Amino acid sequence: MIGPGEVALVVGGSRGIGRATALRLAESGYDIWLTYNSNHAAAGEVRSLIEAKGRACELFSFDVGNYEAVQAALAERVQVTAPYAVVFSAGIARDNLLVWMSREEWETVINTNLNGFYNVVHTVLFSMLSQKRGRIVLISSVSGQTGHAGQVNYSASKAGLIGAAKALAREVGRKNILVNVVSPGVIETEMTEDVPRDKVLPLIPQRRFGAPEEVASVVNFLCTDDPSYIHGQVIGVNGGLAI
Ligand SMILES: NC(=O)c1ccc[n+]([C@@H]2O[C@H](COP(=O)([O-])OP(=O)(O)OC[C@H]3O[C@@H](n4cnc5c(N)ncnc54)[C@H](OP(=O)(O)O)[C@@H]3O)[C@@H](O)[C@H]2O)c1
Repeated sequence: MIGPGEVALVVGGSRGIGRATALRLAESGYDIWLTYNSNHAAAGEVRSLIEAKGRACELFSFDVGNYEAVQAALAERVQVTAPYAVVFSAGIARDNLLVWMSREEWETVINTNLNGFYNVVHTVLFSMLSQKRGRIVLISSVSGQTGHAGQVNYSASKAGLIGAAKALAREVGRKNILVNVVSPGVIETEMTEDVPRDKVLPLIPQRRFGAPEEVASVVNFLCTDDPSYIHGQVIGVNGGLAI
């Protein structure tokens, strides 16, 4: 049971998979700390929807790649309330073949997708360890498991999250904090608006893109009491794209 006032921190919760996850976790009874980068209108809309469900929602706007900004937003807050669940969903893609990839494309993606994980989880982990309970879910990608041409930066960042989650699971398992990865395939969000359907759909056995809610439902399960013996795992939500 998710108790009253239990907090889930959803990083990258203003749009797409993070948005659906924040709404699903609110339905499960969590109050939500919702972080985003700069889309105030989208974040405000999610907050209204969460409040309409009778849950509280605090908004935090910062660039996950900026350690000082993450600290400024969350370090003092977690001394008052430790989040029970943390979902790291913030992420970007800057696709290019490696031969043409600029250092800016490489560094921006690694800084947001992988350093962002360090910046956020490092900031909140001590408070969670003191509670001796919790859930951490990282959103990786099938691209981090199988590799995708044109996504060397993105695949590296997403594979890095899987390694980080497995190592962290070994560190914090005895503190009753479960750490898992959810690895989506192609999901209908703004990130995949330009994906060529005619080329990609034949590769997906279910012959469709996933909905953000289908990812959110798995993340939600991992943030309940039910997955009591699921730890350090990578759970694919990909319509069979990677089997
Ligand atoms: N969509 C897919 O097919 C797919 C597949 C596999 C994995 N994923 C992963 O799933 C996660 C969510 O993807 P999505 O499709 O839902 O993306 P999205 O719709 O583009 O949403 C991205 C979210 O991350 C936030 N964000 C981006 N850069 C940030 C930064 N530097 N600092 C703080 N927040 C930042 C955005 O905030 P703003 O609204 O303020 O910009 C937004 O809330 C990502 O990690 C992505 O790599 C997606």
